[in-house]
Amino acid sequence: MSTSLIFGANGGIGRALVQKLTGDGWTVGAVSRHPQDLADLTEFHYEADVADAFAVQQAVYAAAQELPPVDLWIYAAGDILSSPVAEMTPDAWQRILTANLSGAYLATHHSLPLLAERAHLMYIGAYSEKLRLPGLTAYAAAKAGLEAFAAAFAKEQRKLRVTVVRPGAVDTPLWSKMPARLPKNAMTPDALAEHIVAAYHAGTTGTLDV
Ligand SMILES: NC(=O)c1ccc[n+]([C@@H]2O[C@H](COP(=O)([O-])OP(=O)(O)OC[C@H]3O[C@@H](n4cnc5c(N)ncnc54)[C@H](OP(=O)(O)O)[C@@H]3O)[C@@H](O)[C@H]2O)c1
Repeated sequence: MSTSLIFGANGGIGRALVQKLTGDGWTVGAVSRHPQDLADLTEFHYEADVADAFAVQQAVYAAAQELPPVDLWIYAAGDILSSPVAEMTPDAWQRILTANLSGAYLATHHSLPLLAERAHLMYIGAYSEKLRLPGLTAYAAAKAGLEAFAAAFAKEQRKLRVTVVRPGAVDTPLWSKMPARLPKNAMTPDALAEHIVAAYHAGTTGTLDV
C-alpha cells in the first residue's frame, strides 16, 4: 500500500487528490486550515496554516506518528489576488507569496524526514510565464519562484523525484478571487487529479504542463 501527504488538501484540487488517492486504496494524510472538512475522506487530517512555521512543524510531527513513509507528497495550497502594485498592501503581497512559495519551502523542509527513500514531491504551479499580467505581480512572482525553488531543490535531493505540475484553468473556488471568468474549457479537479496520479506512476519529473 502507498502513502501520500497533501498540503492544501481542503482546496478544489487538494480535495480531488485526496478523493482520488483514497479511492485507489492509498493511505492519505491531509493538511489544511480546516481539517474537519476532510474527515469524511481520511482519518489522517491535520491542521496547519502554511504562514505559521510552528503549525506546519506540528502537523508534520503528528503525521509522522501515524503514517508510513510518504511515497507521494503534494503541495496544493495556493492563493491568488488581482491587484495593481500601486494598490497592493504589504500584507496582501505577503499572503500570496506565503501561500504559493514560502509555504512550499516550509512544508518541504519539515516533511523531509517523513519521506520514503525514493519519494516523489509534486508542487502545483501554473503557466508562470503566461501570468505576467497587470494585477498578477504577486501570483506570477510566486509561481515563477516556486519553479526555481523546485528545480534547485531537485539538484540537492537526487534520490527524490520532483515535479512542478502546471495546470491550465481548473474549476475550483480559486476563480472566485479572479476578475476573469472561468474559461469554458476548464478542467475538473478530478481530471487533474487523474493526470497527477498518472504522472506519479509514470515517474514524470521536471515540469508537467497539463
Ligand atoms: N484553479 C486553477 O485554475 C489553477 C490553475 C493553475 C494553478 N492552480 C494552483 O493550484 C493550487 C490549488 O488551487 P485550487 O485551484 O485548488 O484553489 P482553491 O480551491 O482556492 O484551494 C487553495 C487551497 O489553498 C489553501 N491555502 C491558501 N492559503 C493557505 C495558507 N496560508 N495555509 C494553508 N492553506 C492555505 C486554501 O485553504 P482554505 O480552504 O483554508 O482557504 C485552499 O484550501 C494553487 O497553488 C493554485 O495556484 C490553480
